Order: sequence, then C-alpha cells, then structure tokens
Amino acid sequence: MKLSGKVAIVTGAARGIGRACALRLAEMGADVAVSDINLDGAAEYGESLGAETVADEIVNIGRNSIGIQADLTIPDAAIDMVARTTEALGAPDILVNVAGGAFTPIEKSWASILADDDLDRMLAVNLKTAIHACQAVLPSMRERGEGIIVNTASMIGSNAGVRQGKLTDYGIAKTGVIQYTRFLAAEVGQYGIRVNALSPGSIATARIVALSSARGIATNDDLEKIALRRLGTPEDMASAMEFLVTDQSAYVTGQCITVCGGRTLTPS
Ligand SMILES: NC(=O)c1ccc[n+]([C@@H]2O[C@H](COP(=O)([O-])OP(=O)(O)OC[C@H]3O[C@@H](n4cnc5c(N)ncnc54)[C@H](O)[C@@H]3O)[C@@H](O)[C@H]2O)c1
Repeated sequence: MKLSGKVAIVTGAARGIGRACALRLAEMGADVAVSDINLDGAAEYGESLGAETVADEIVNIGRNSIGIQADLTIPDAAIDMVARTTEALGAPDILVNVAGGAFTPIEKSWASILADDDLDRMLAVNLKTAIHACQAVLPSMRERGEGIIVNTASMIGSNAGVRQGKLTDYGIAKTGVIQYTRFLAAEVGQYGIRVNALSPGSIATARIVALSSARGIATNDDLEKIALRRLGTPEDMASAMEFLVTDQSAYVTGQCITVCGGRTLTPS
C-alpha cells in the first residue's frame, strides 16, 4: 500500500480517466475525494459502476471517500472542494486534475474561424479548472512541505497536426495546461511539491467510444496511426499516474508524459 495514510483529490472523477485514477489511488491505499461537476455523469455514456457512486466504489475497496459536486471553472468552488476534503478525509497530499473535455463542434474548431465564446469555454473547462484546483491545494501543501500534483493535458496540446489542425481551442487550452504545469513546478519545487502532466492520446473512455464516429476521433483509421495498434484504456492512464504519484518519480517535476501508444510518432 504505497499511498497508505495519504489523501488524494481527483477532479473529473465521476467517470472515464478520472474514475480510473480515483480507483487506482484507492487501491494504492489513499483516501480519495471524488470531485466532478456532475457526480452522476457515468450514466450519460453508459459507463457502469460497481456501486451506486464512484465514492461508494472506493469505500468498497476499503478506503474513505467523499463525493464533491463542483464546477471548477469557479475559483471558490475549488477552495470549497479542498476545505470539504480536508474536513472529511484530511489535508490533501495528492491532486490529480482530470476535469476537462473537447466540446466545440469539429466544424467550428478551425484556427481561422474559432469563436470567442468557444475559446473562452475551452480555456475555462480545460485550463482554468486545473489552475483553480492547484491554487486551492497549494497553501496546505506548501505549509507541510510536500505535495504531488498531476494535470491532464492532451497530445494535441503539443502537436497541432495530430488532428489535422482541428480542435484548435481545445488544443490551445491543453498547451496551457502543459505550460502551467512547468511554471508551477518551477515555482513550488523548493517547497517539496512536484507538478507533472499526462498527455493522453486516444483513450477509449465511454464518452470517446460514444462520440467516436460523430467526431471522427478514435476511429479505425486512427488505429493505423497508433504504433501499438490499439486505443488506450483509462487503466493505461491510471498506470502512468501511478508512476507520478509515488517516489518512483521522486526526481521528476515539470514534465509532461504522453500516453498515446506511439500515436505522435506517425504523421497525421
Ligand atoms: N479520452 C481521451 O481520449 C482523451 C484524450 C486527450 C485528453 N483527454 C483528457 O482527459 C480528461 C478526461 O477525459 P475522459 O475521456 O475521461 O472524459 P470524460 O468526459 O469521461 O470525463 C471528464 C470529466 O470532467 C468533468 N468535468 C467537465 N467539466 C467540469 C468542470 N467545469 N468542473 C468539474 N468537472 C468537470 C465531466 O463531468 C466528466 O466527468 C479530460 O481532461 C480530457 O480532455 C482525454
């Protein structure tokens, strides 16, 4: 139990990658706060849970948990999330930011026509949620002289060609996540806090599977471009997270690890 006695918060944890990370942290011994704008979100794309809620799944693993419904685009919601976690489970040692998503219609996502409101929304949901959550956990991590933060970017955040120039607003927001990770790591390393990011490739979450053909992502054509010839799983993401939240990565900070099965090696 590498994380026995530790407290973690996972944002965007009602389903998909966030849920897989939350369950993995619990299996590793941590008590976990499950945070999401919609704690019942798993049902939306037919993701089945092993209990009524993700927090209940964690309790079934034998750890303590709390569900916190919060829209993290609002800074005060992030502060409240940390306060409620601290009261219920203790001060957070680990923050895993997974909340996010690409919602702009593909045909509106080209760089030349990007709408201001879509850009604002993508920056808020993908970049600001992470910034707000980081800023909310940092005071207590800094005071205690330790802490681990893992943010979630996307391979498109560092490779505009991987979606043939589509999803500009989302891509820009994820570039922001990678760069924010670096700036924050540079600032807080002196306090014993490590900050890294994971960049998923095509991960077959229930949402991605449901939207695959409509959005032209994670399709059979994509498989040809993935060196390992398979989509990723939420558990692949949780395994990469596992490295970043343990002492195995004690000397790693400010880095972004791409978890894409080699997709970024292949021309678009
Ligand atoms: N699945 C992929 O292929 C893929 C690829 C690249 C990047 N990502 C990134 O990985 C993360 C998870 O992806 P997923 O496929 O599991 O998506 P998902 O939609 O299944 O999970 C994202 C969760 O974030 C929550 N969320 C959205 N806005 C929020 C807000 N304002 N406040 C709090 N919670 C909010 C949603 O309710 C949802 O439960 C996202 O950041 C996504 O951009 C995923």
